[in-house]
Amino acid sequence: MQLSLIASISLVCNFVEALDVKVVDLSYELGPETLFFPGNPPFVSTILHRGNTGAHWYEINKFETAEHGGTHIDAPSHFAEGKLRLHEIPMEKLIGPGVIIDVKDKVAGNSDYKVSIGDIMAWELKHKKVPECAIVIMNSGWGANYPNKTLTFGTTTPEDQSTFHYPGWHKEAVDWLIKTRRVCVVGVDTPSTDPGDSTSFPVHQTLGAANVPGLENVANLDSVPESGSIIYVAPIKLKDGSGAPVRMFATFPKSDIRTRYNQEL
Ligand SMILES: *[C@@H]1O[C@H](CO)[C@@H](O)[C@H](O)[C@H]1NC(C)=O
Repeated sequence: MQLSLIASISLVCNFVEALDVKVVDLSYELGPETLFFPGNPPFVSTILHRGNTGAHWYEINKFETAEHGGTHIDAPSHFAEGKLRLHEIPMEKLIGPGVIIDVKDKVAGNSDYKVSIGDIMAWELKHKKVPECAIVIMNSGWGANYPNKTLTFGTTTPEDQSTFHYPGWHKEAVDWLIKTRRVCVVGVDTPSTDPGDSTSFPVHQTLGAANVPGLENVANLDSVPESGSIIYVAPIKLKDGSGAPVRMFATFPKSDIRTRYNQEL
């Protein structure tokens, strides 16, 4: 009894509390509700054993999933021949300063909105130059729709890709981020880095050609500051994968020194 009490207390007293750092989980759960593009099989989990063996409790399951579902990474090889597959992406390229580009106002009047160079300039005016190896993510407000299939794909016929509507990146903006700001990852809170009405996927092609991974269906962006976080992206190390579900999260100081100082006065 005493030992299990100590164990549960040590779970509450976590290390990040002591660091005065906030952690925001940027991934949705991977499960039967996970959304995939048409043509992908659904996620399936199977219980292999859940019960008492006679000696002890034992749980073990298996799951089957397509690579590109829910909160996931696109490896550069997804849309570009000869580029990095999932296991080849260096971890150093999957950790970087978070740059959250809020385009909710623009998306409110146009669900096919494409994030522009002007939107990045506006972010830079407000904050600073986009740092090298940034993880730049569009916050269009679309995350509020997940996991509702109709709302997430912006159509009443989610089995028909030609009817999709949701915001994404403009190819020129992504090209600019890669060439002039040397960003490490580009992401969205929608199902695709290209907007829903795209047929040729120029953003996917641009990212792939530059060996820059993409992130799709990123969660909880309203809980992350536009500037000042570090984002960590941790996909499983799937050999030759073109993508995979990811656990990703942001960390940032709970309060800056001045705020803390003022509170103490
Ligand atoms: C998804 O959203 C639509 C439109 O608002 C709504 O009619 C439908 O009931 C929702 N589906 C679920 C499963 O919540």
